[in-house]
Amino acid sequence: MRPVDLRSDTVTQPTDAMRRAMAAAEVGDDVYGEDPTINSLEELAAERVGMEAAVFVPSGTMGNCMAIMAHCERGDEIFLDPRCHIMSSEAGGPAVIASVWPNALPVTNGQFTAADLAAAIRGPNVHNPRPRLVCIENTSNNGGGSVWPLERIAEVSRLAHERGLVVHMDGARLFNAAVALGVPAAQVCASVDSVMFCVSKGLGAPVGSLLCGSRAFIDRARRARKMLGGGMRQAGVIAAAGIVALESMVDRLAEDHANAQRLGAGLADLRGVRIQPVETNFVMVDYADTGVAPKDLVGRMRERGVLCSAGGTRMRLVTHKDVDQAGIEQALTAFAAALT
Ligand SMILES: Cc1ncc(COP(=O)(O)O)c(C=O)c1O
Repeated sequence: MRPVDLRSDTVTQPTDAMRRAMAAAEVGDDVYGEDPTINSLEELAAERVGMEAAVFVPSGTMGNCMAIMAHCERGDEIFLDPRCHIMSSEAGGPAVIASVWPNALPVTNGQFTAADLAAAIRGPNVHNPRPRLVCIENTSNNGGGSVWPLERIAEVSRLAHERGLVVHMDGARLFNAAVALGVPAAQVCASVDSVMFCVSKGLGAPVGSLLCGSRAFIDRARRARKMLGGGMRQAGVIAAAGIVALESMVDRLAEDHANAQRLGAGLADLRGVRIQPVETNFVMVDYADTGVAPKDLVGRMRERGVLCSAGGTRMRLVTHKDVDQAGIEQALTAFAAALT
């Protein structure tokens, strides 16, 4: 029997419809712009986010790095959450490859305000790097799957634009944000200049992300993709699954959010356990007061058929399409036993 895997939504298996679409995909050499399936996915992605153009990339990490390369010049300053994915989990690529200077803003649940940004932007002076780019992670991974309110995105973008900066959204889980807010994805990124979203996470495709923005921005980003070795050839075989993901896997994210609510509510009933309010498909569990050590908890859960990520006593659980309600109940029973 497959374990209940709550480590991440990146573990999702492609659906049968995806596998069929992949097998039947029409392909061509994408570096020549001749893969019809990739072209269709890019058009669909641009339409879904309300932007002019999109480029298909193997990973969210590459898409974010390309965005920084296409927006910035060497030595430019970028403003972001110190614990966002770009800062904490992309191997220092923005510094090593894009050569930008990070300015970490104060955050609550992964979010900063226009006032925080205003306080951090320094005026033109020979001593300062050139302020250039603001990165918003939505939903915020380290923020526990938190969803940026639309007004906050608009305020941050307005201020950035007034000061001559541009805004990139790391929307690895953009569609979780959209579903949680009950609005189209295009509305979530209406005021930003570029967005990267992944089809490989809760949407269930095996591989791939899309970077979207103006046509001129995407032309620059394609060049960055080539430089990074991300120019793929007959990659329509993977893009085909991305089309299925966008066409049929978005609305069902609401089920993952409902399962996360159920999981969070059940865990909150356990003694010594505190849960951050659940907004999307992440459940942040603080179990320090139970006295159970992280590696003991992970081991005890594995013995009961539930996979969780090791870390400190703040654990991130992620719901997704391959964990159903029965899996949630199994996880709750296992936690009740493992945390006592
Ligand atoms: C918020 C966020 N951004 C970017 C990424 C990078 O995506 P990838 O794993 O496809 O490189 C992730 C991956 O988990 C993520 O959570």
